[in-house]
Amino acid sequence: MARVAGGVGCSHVPAVGAAIDKGRTEEPYWAPYFAKLDRARRWIAEVDPDVCIVVYNDHASAFSLEVIPTFALGLADEFPPADEGYGPRPVPVVQGHPELAWHLAESLILDEFDITLVNEMPVDHGLTVPLSVMFGQPEAWPSAVIPLCVNVVQYPPPTGHRCYRLGQALRRALDAYEGDERVVVFGTGGMSHQLQSERAGFINVDFDTAFLDHLVDDPEAVATIPHLDYLRDAGSEGIELVMWLVMRGALGPRVREVYRATHLPTSNTHNGLLILEEES
Ligand code: DHB
Ligand code: FE
Repeated sequence: MARVAGGVGCSHVPAVGAAIDKGRTEEPYWAPYFAKLDRARRWIAEVDPDVCIVVYNDHASAFSLEVIPTFALGLADEFPPADEGYGPRPVPVVQGHPELAWHLAESLILDEFDITLVNEMPVDHGLTVPLSVMFGQPEAWPSAVIPLCVNVVQYPPPTGHRCYRLGQALRRALDAYEGDERVVVFGTGGMSHQLQSERAGFINVDFDTAFLDHLVDDPEAVATIPHLDYLRDAGSEGIELVMWLVMRGALGPRVREVYRATHLPTSNTHNGLLILEEES
C-alpha cells in the first residue's frame, strides 16, 4: 500500500518560474513571496516523497485544441519541460513512475473514471512551477512525478464534484498498490485570476480565503461549487481550483492544515500554497 504523506495546493504562475530561473527571487517584487516558501520546502524535504502525483492543467502545450482529454495520466519514463514560446524552462526532466502510473490507470479505469493514457508528453508551467516552488533548483527533481492532467482550458471542464471523486478513487488505487512508496499529491493552479477581456486582473481574496477554509474542513461543500460561481467569483481562470479538489479527495475526510501562505500579487494571480496532512 502506498502511503499518502500529504497534499499540496499550489498556484502555478509562470512568472514565479521565470523569477526562479532568472535569479530574481531577491528583487523587491518577489522577495516577500519567496520568503513564504521556506516552511513549505522544509516540510517536503522532511517528508521526502518517493512519488509526487501532480494534478495540473496543460495550457495548450502538450495538447492543442485538436485533442482535449478531460483527464490524462502520464505513464512515461520521463517528461521533458515544454517549450511555451521562450524555449523550455531550464529545469530537470521529470522522471515518471511507470509501474505506479499503470497501476493507477488500471485501478481508476476499472473504478469507472475514463482516463486518457499518455505515453509521451512535454509538461508545461502548470506542472513545473509547483515543483520549483516546493523543491527550488535541484540538479534532478528529488522525487518521481506522475502527471495527472485535467482539462480546465476548454469548456466544459469537469465539475469540482467529479474532481473530488477522482481524488477519492486515486486514494483507493494507492491503498491497493503493492509497493510502499511515500506519495504526496499536488493540486495546482488558481487561486482567483482572470487573464483576459474586460475583467483581466480580477482577483477575489474573500472567495479564495473561503475556498481554502472549506477545502480543509468541508470539502463536500466546496465540491458543489458550480462552474458559473468560479467564473463570476474567481475569474475565468479561477476554475483551475477544481484541481485542488482532486488533491483533497485523495486525503481522508479529516485533515490538518500544516501550512498556508497566500500572496498578492504574483503576476495576475492571488497566489496560494496549502499543505495538508491526514488527521491520524
Ligand atoms: C498566470 C497564471 C496562470 O495560472 C497561468 O496559467 C498563466 C499566467 C498569471 O497570473 O500570469
Ligand atoms: Fe494556469
